[in-house]
Amino acid sequence: MARSGGSATGSRIGRTPPAVTLAGGTIASSALLADGSTDAVAVPVAPARDGDDALVPGEGTAAAAARYGIDLAEIGERARLAGKPGDVYVLQLPRPVGSSVVLPWAGLPTTLVLVGVGAGRPEDLRRAGAALARATRGLGRVVTTLGAEAQQTASQAAAAARAVAEGYLLAAYSPLQIKVKDDTRAPAELVLLGRDGTRAAAAVAAARTAATATWLVRDLATTPSNVKNPEWMAEQARRLSDEAGLEVVVRGPRDLGEFGGILAVGAGSMSPPRLVTVSYTPATFTPGSGKHVVIVGKGITYDTGGLSIKQSDAMVPMKTDMTGAAVALATVLGAAADGVKHRVTAVLPLAENHVGADSYRPGDVLTMFGGTTVEIANTDAEGRLVLADALAWADATLDPDVLIDVATLTGAATIGLGKQYAALYSSDAVLVADLVAAGADSGERTWHMPLVDEYEEAVRSDIAHLRHVPVDKKIGGGSITAALFLRHFVGSRAWAHLDIAGPARSTSDRHEVSEGATGFGARLLLRYLDDLR
Ligand code: BES
Ligand code: MN
Ligand code: ZN
Repeated sequence: MARSGGSATGSRIGRTPPAVTLAGGTIASSALLADGSTDAVAVPVAPARDGDDALVPGEGTAAAAARYGIDLAEIGERARLAGKPGDVYVLQLPRPVGSSVVLPWAGLPTTLVLVGVGAGRPEDLRRAGAALARATRGLGRVVTTLGAEAQQTASQAAAAARAVAEGYLLAAYSPLQIKVKDDTRAPAELVLLGRDGTRAAAAVAAARTAATATWLVRDLATTPSNVKNPEWMAEQARRLSDEAGLEVVVRGPRDLGEFGGILAVGAGSMSPPRLVTVSYTPATFTPGSGKHVVIVGKGITYDTGGLSIKQSDAMVPMKTDMTGAAVALATVLGAAADGVKHRVTAVLPLAENHVGADSYRPGDVLTMFGGTTVEIANTDAEGRLVLADALAWADATLDPDVLIDVATLTGAATIGLGKQYAALYSSDAVLVADLVAAGADSGERTWHMPLVDEYEEAVRSDIAHLRHVPVDKKIGGGSITAALFLRHFVGSRAWAHLDIAGPARSTSDRHEVSEGATGFGARLLLRYLDDLR
């Protein structure tokens, strides 16, 4: 059923972040600074070394001071810049009045930005890039030497360019606007000065893919649920997959008879569920080459809790309960854009957990895909039901080498780890190591949690194969018991579960993380796929 306002934001899903380009040359010589095409020049500063109270100028900072005829180090100190990653100082240079005054910076960009880069590690440079984006929003073109330090290996230089570009593009995001037609403060094009070559170009391309994926997740998650029902999500997936040349299959309620979990969760809503699959096969694919990675994402387009209804404050953010599905979709699109060497399939079980005459009830027993029966105790634990169907179906029909699910699954995960880490569950040591490493590299961090066998009693039922939530609250570990439930549906696959209930949302803009929907997960999984052997 199409909803009123359905076109309000739909056509703008799939935005592209601003351009990042590479240019040779230096601050001393670059014509980009003198041809009137650039609005701002940004150069790095690092914290003072031990026992030295002066800021340390980074690559191009001394050259900028010379070209502008300004003591930048002294300005930085007067502004009390510490050089920490994310510190930023914007110097708005005056223009002369009348023709008799000639300023030393005549003809040069009149905005100079000093950006703290800390120790210059990738995570520092992501923060520096993010700070630069926030400081230069609304400008046309920004030229920077951030990350272009001379003393680096080729791989360090590529990582630095990638980090600066990624931080810049992630923080350049502004939420999809419903109230206005265009964002009048569009972010600027970023020019990375002093870098060229295929390696840097590839690094910047990867940064753009990662940021595009994150923007997509944020836009989908931000879209309100009077627009975003399962049908709408499936339409976005179909359109974006068609545009990328990927195979997409949309199954509706008539095709989902065996999917007892998805049907039950969606039964209370006027907007019936969908199951979407999007598959990417690399151009170089031959049977036996590469792996098949299947990513299942929780796609609850709104979570009222169902008959076990949420209290009102807890319900407010629940339009973002489809973040896992958005992550799965953005990841397969990003994998195609990056030319990942493995097959990737995104599986999106989409349903709205609402209250209606046909709602499923606490006490019901559902038959899931594959025949496992599940006794329902709380209709607000809907995520594990749609995931269980999708995981069992993926195991039975897609023959994955690696099966990963990603979901805003439990408030308990947020209580345990806060909002900066995803809870990672897996008994596959290689998968754990790879996902932890991808988390550290991408900045979307994961923490390996235990699948505690002794807590299995939480999902034991007297009348069905399983109960989906513990009735005895003394067991605790709500994120763990949810993972234990899911484990019953993955067969013998190498499987990992990512509970992103914490990091999927943020209460403030912070470095590369945006307020509201953060898009957490797509960059992590793209990094995992890029590095997978
Ligand atoms: N979507 C929620 C989990 C959630 C909570 C995500 C807060 C983001 C922020 C999930 O469907 C849910 O309601 N989980 C319940 C499970 C409980 C009923 C066993 C929870 O965590 O309270
Ligand atoms: Mn719920
Ligand atoms: Zn939910």
